[in-house]
Amino acid sequence: MLFTWVFAFIPIRITARFISTRSTSQLILATLLVKAGSGLATFGNPTSAGVPPEVVQHTMVLPFNDIEALETAFKAYGNDVACLMMEPVAGNMNFVRSSVPFMKRCRELCTAYGAILAFDEVMCGFRVALGSAQSLYAKEIPGFEPDMTVMGKVIGGGMPLAAFGGKRDVMSHLAPLGAVYQAGTLSGNPVATACGLATLREIQKPGFFDNLNLRTRSLIAGMTAAANDAGIPFCGDSEGGMFGFFFMPTLPQNYATVMTTDADRFNRFFHHMLDEGVYFAPALFEAGFVSAAHSEQDIAETVAAAKRAFAAL
Ligand SMILES: Cc1ncc(COP(=O)(O)O)c(C=O)c1O
Repeated sequence: MLFTWVFAFIPIRITARFISTRSTSQLILATLLVKAGSGLATFGNPTSAGVPPEVVQHTMVLPFNDIEALETAFKAYGNDVACLMMEPVAGNMNFVRSSVPFMKRCRELCTAYGAILAFDEVMCGFRVALGSAQSLYAKEIPGFEPDMTVMGKVIGGGMPLAAFGGKRDVMSHLAPLGAVYQAGTLSGNPVATACGLATLREIQKPGFFDNLNLRTRSLIAGMTAAANDAGIPFCGDSEGGMFGFFFMPTLPQNYATVMTTDADRFNRFFHHMLDEGVYFAPALFEAGFVSAAHSEQDIAETVAAAKRAFAAL
């Protein structure tokens, strides 16, 4: 049966635009808020109030990058799974990319059991690459494609807009071809759509992503070197303009490990950087972003400020 179980990898949040009526939308939104993103994590709330158990029972939350847990879940419930939904490069637990073997297994199991593999690219879409995160996995896994993709404000160049898309057999369930009706006040809003198109034109220019990658990597490399010099356990990762860093020696692979980060040290670092005029995301569960407007000098000044901050920690 379609739309029975929804598997979700934490942290996950999603727009409620899959379905039609307001009450149903809220139901599905609530389902996926069983375990939500960085905002809730920051305040230490495992889930949102107002999510009734009758709704939660249709969602199973699995640990990220854990092939064994994934296989066990599919073995037990595979025939009832409607959808496996994930942020391929998770930005709601700082920055944690799905490993290639894990992603490959997600695809294989969804195909084998007839479940939809849905990518939430609300945050990583167009930020990690022109073809979004799915294009990175397609380079590593021959023929790789998710069945559905969800995008938020990024598709409006930062303006209020959202869209989802997918393979023909999935999308043909939508009205007027199918029975699933979708509408929204800002759907296809012309101003936001024009902004989105203008952004796409900019980021398609030759060398755009090479330059962005370079600057983001140099930020992470510079901060890592500065932390090492100060003897502070630190690591970071980036793709395109999206990055994350952790006060721990090796990159975490899942939410549970992210939660073991030295939060007190992060807070002191954050405030020191703020005093220096550098505003990182104010919680260690948030990803960071380098934009085309950030110059080499901005990066160098940030690294220099981080050096002073590490020395003071
Ligand atoms: C990964 C992810 N998915 C979904 C959402 C929700 O998007 P929207 O605010 O358009 O509903 C967010 C919000 O930032 C997000 O980060």
